[in-house]
Amino acid sequence: FAFTPANRAWAEAQITKYPEGRQASAVIPLLFRAQEQEGWLTKPAIEYVADLLDMPYIRVLEVASFYFMFQLQPTGSVAHIQVCGTTSCMIMGSENLIEVCKRKISHHPHALSADGKFSWEEVECLGACANAPMAQIGKDYFEDLTEAGLERLIDDLAAGKAPVPGSEIGRFGAEPATGLT
Ligand code: FES
Repeated sequence: FAFTPANRAWAEAQITKYPEGRQASAVIPLLFRAQEQEGWLTKPAIEYVADLLDMPYIRVLEVASFYFMFQLQPTGSVAHIQVCGTTSCMIMGSENLIEVCKRKISHHPHALSADGKFSWEEVECLGACANAPMAQIGKDYFEDLTEAGLERLIDDLAAGKAPVPGSEIGRFGAEPATGLT
């Protein structure tokens, strides 16, 4: 693994933002850029970031394995669906969303669907509890999700459509969106 020239230049600019000897502070943005380039964080990519930052491989792996924004195995080519399973979402039906993922993608989290297009996992609270249950795909949140809504979302993505993120029922925070400007 190696960064593309553009990513390498970007990484070096990130590193210079931090004081001498503190270049490890750039580990998260560099890992994120490596993941964007490869689709997921391979061992060589983690080693490359470790070398760039003069960090032990294990320290970088610790970071990469702690945050679920980092993927340590291949993800679906179209979407990796992260369903929140923490308290608010669980009370509001996240288990039903997980069943949809099991049925439509794969019985096991992190396993690819038969066509390689999708993968899924259950994650901890994503901070959108007021609109539970919800799921994250890429950088987008899909909230107040129903089983039918998630099924439609997966079908739309498979068909190449770009679903609209946000609340499935159009509310903002805990209040209905109606009347808001
Ligand atoms: Fe699901 Fe917080 S509990 S977003």
